[in-house]
Amino acid sequence: MGDKAEQAIMLEFTLQGQDFIRAGEASSEIKQRLKKLGFKPDVVRRAAIVAYESEMNVIIHARKGTLRVEITPRKILIQALDEGPGIADIEQAMQEGFSTAPDMIRELGFGAGMGLPNIKRFADEFKIQSRVGEGTLLEIIIHADKG
Ligand SMILES: Nc1ncnc2c1ncn2[C@@H]1O[C@H](COP(=O)(O)OP(=O)(O)OP(=O)(O)O)[C@@H](O)[C@H]1O
Ligand SMILES: [Mg+2]
Repeated sequence: MGDKAEQAIMLEFTLQGQDFIRAGEASSEIKQRLKKLGFKPDVVRRAAIVAYESEMNVIIHARKGTLRVEITPRKILIQALDEGPGIADIEQAMQEGFSTAPDMIRELGFGAGMGLPNIKRFADEFKIQSRVGEGTLLEIIIHADKG
């Protein structure tokens, strides 16, 4: 502790539900930062996918939220916290292909029901909490020894 190299870098982005103009900006900035910091391509790729799918879920399914990232040389913590409808059945939401996205969203190319399963697949640690009518919290850790 106190060692400059071990200090965490924190990034925070505000996300607005249904804002398809700015959709993907937060995760693409996260990806660029991780690249510049010298993380391995595989770590950058996994963190970028997790951040993107988390960001899109807030924009598509929730009213508003925040995407937070805490970066240390050893791990990348990604948190997506939103205010929205929440998820009644998390087990069902985690199934590949399950989606409640309406036709309008599917026409934009989303709603394959692959976001949450892919987040879990690419994360080293994954937690999801949700309260119906209140919102959802995702916490993902990617181990990132830069070697
Ligand atoms: N932040 C959220 N708030 C409320 N519901 C959510 C949230 N994230 C996911 N869900 C619910 O879980 C379902 C599955 O999510 P998932 O990300 O796997 O698929 P999708 O977003 O519907 O489609 P895709 O991610 O493939 O574009 C969603 O359709 C939605 O019902
Ligand atoms: Mg999704």
